[in-house]
Amino acid sequence: MLHAKVTGIGTFVPEKKIDNHYFESIIETNDEWIQSRTGIKTRHFAAENEYTSHLCLGAAKNLQEETGCSFEDVDFIIVATVTPDQVMPSIASQIQNKLNIPSAGAIDISAACAGFAYAIILAKGLIAAGTHRKILVFGGETLTKVTNYEDRTSCILFGDGAGAVLVEAAEKTNILAAVTGSQGDGGKDLYLSTRRNRVNGQDIVVDGFIHQNGRAVFKWAVNTISQHMATLPATLGWTMDDIDWFVPHSANLRIIDALCNNSGFPMEKTLESITIYGNTSSASIPLALHRGIREGKVKSGDKIMMFGFGGGLVYAGLIIEWP
Ligand code: UT7
Repeated sequence: MLHAKVTGIGTFVPEKKIDNHYFESIIETNDEWIQSRTGIKTRHFAAENEYTSHLCLGAAKNLQEETGCSFEDVDFIIVATVTPDQVMPSIASQIQNKLNIPSAGAIDISAACAGFAYAIILAKGLIAAGTHRKILVFGGETLTKVTNYEDRTSCILFGDGAGAVLVEAAEKTNILAAVTGSQGDGGKDLYLSTRRNRVNGQDIVVDGFIHQNGRAVFKWAVNTISQHMATLPATLGWTMDDIDWFVPHSANLRIIDALCNNSGFPMEKTLESITIYGNTSSASIPLALHRGIREGKVKSGDKIMMFGFGGGLVYAGLIIEWP
């Protein structure tokens, strides 16, 4: 039987950096409110002609530069995104073409801010099944293209970015534990409207924007992820003390703080991307992890527990031993 191993990471954010003062001229808000309620200081905005596929290609290039890996024998591509350039063709197949990968299966998956963790779990399954050997996994978003800049409760939150990892066949896996879950009755609390004007039997506005009931999602995320922070390591016979780095989805620094307070996990052992990149949905976990690696925090052999959570409502958690 083949085992799946995460072997390297690359990330990319667009050039344009936006600080909190930018919003003071378009909505009623201020830097103090944004920083104290969310932790966000800056985020990056994609250019008008820059889409999620471009950011994913940037992350792939960075992965190649940092690891020296080759994409020629990649046999599957998974892109986790809720902001694809278009619904069809998939970004995954566009990436296959742009990277000159001769032949690879290609799919986009939709699991919002949990997408990156879901995509790694799927890649592990394909390799363990023996059907694939080298999988390129992306979490990439251009949330600023689906943000309503008249909605002050949400527009200050979102940023754009992408992360990529390679998952390869190996003798020993480093994807040690996983958990997934969904609470579909919370769909109405966080949605990106496209066609239908109803979610969970409730009327919604069809305007192409993200809508969020921030307080409801905040509570759900803290309650749900707090419960799993101890039970996921326990599936390996571990406690939270065995985890070197906790990488929750970066939606709000107060959520990360609450998760640490509730579970007793030390805040100093968390990695985040919220302060400098805002909420980048499926890109937030790879951006936080790569930041931790670049800052010399994450070392080979470290045990990393990541948790994605968001629209669905869905969540996914993973424990990886960093290669
Ligand atoms: O990524 C997917 C998962 N998403 C999440 O996990 C997000 C979870 N939710 C959150 O992060 C927070 O709920 C938000 C950051 C979205 C909002 O923070 P909050 O502390 O829950 O604020 P709130 O919505 O309860 O609003 C508090 C007050 C309100 O005023 P009143 O009613 O108390 O007078 C808002 O109108 O803050 C006001 N407010 C603002 N004030 C200045 C809302 N947005 C702003 C703003 N600037 N941008």
